[in-house]
Amino acid sequence: MQKIFDNKEELARYFGDLLLKASQEKPELHIALSGGSTPKTIFEVLAKNYAKSIDWTKIRFFWGDERCVAPNDPESNFGMTREYLFDHVKTRGVNIFRVKGELTPNEALADYIRQIDENVPKLNGLPCFDMMLLGMGDDGHTASIFPHQAQLWNSKAICELAQHPETGQNRVTLSGNVINNSQQIFFLVTGGNKAEKVDEIINQKGNYKQYPAAMVDTNKTVWLMDADAANKLMK
Ligand code: 6PG
Repeated sequence: MQKIFDNKEELARYFGDLLLKASQEKPELHIALSGGSTPKTIFEVLAKNYAKSIDWTKIRFFWGDERCVAPNDPESNFGMTREYLFDHVKTRGVNIFRVKGELTPNEALADYIRQIDENVPKLNGLPCFDMMLLGMGDDGHTASIFPHQAQLWNSKAICELAQHPETGQNRVTLSGNVINNSQQIFFLVTGGNKAEKVDEIINQKGNYKQYPAAMVDTNKTVWLMDADAANKLMK
């Protein structure tokens, strides 16, 4: 399913309403957040408009992927989330399960797998997040599974170590089996630079299966896009 919004703020308000409803329906919510720049606006809107209405202490926060950097590094997805969301709403510190990017990549990988294994309910023998937020790169990657390492998608492990194709930056990422084991998956995609891949993947054009984002279970996925990202869909 796709929903298209005039701008990021409207997209964020729609997602905020969904998160509010989900948080009211369950005693606690296990959510995996996406990283990069798109979530910044969404977190800002959530912090500004939902700080009081959502009981943030009921939410257990994880990440779909993280860069192997310290939490105060500008590249850190946890650091970005803290700056744009956690510093503005009342969370429970013990409910924040971050990748410890300050460790070596292999230590961070093992530690994060342990945190997920011990704290996320299982379904079909795999961790099952209530809500999985994903972004998509303009190369068709999602989480930190890039086209040049698409084989990581089918890993039997909960998480894998990946490398950014240009910078070589080490990343810890959820595997595709865990991503697709979620109750609900939301692709949060904005910006005209994503329009071509969005069209290829949603309309299953050409060699779209080469893109990890195309491996996400469409039956559980809602694409939340701004008009720029959906520009080629509306042709
Ligand atoms: C990351 C993300 C990654 C991101 C996409 C889109 O750590 O970078 O998890 O998968 O969602 O690259 O990023 P933008 O929102 O910045 O375009």
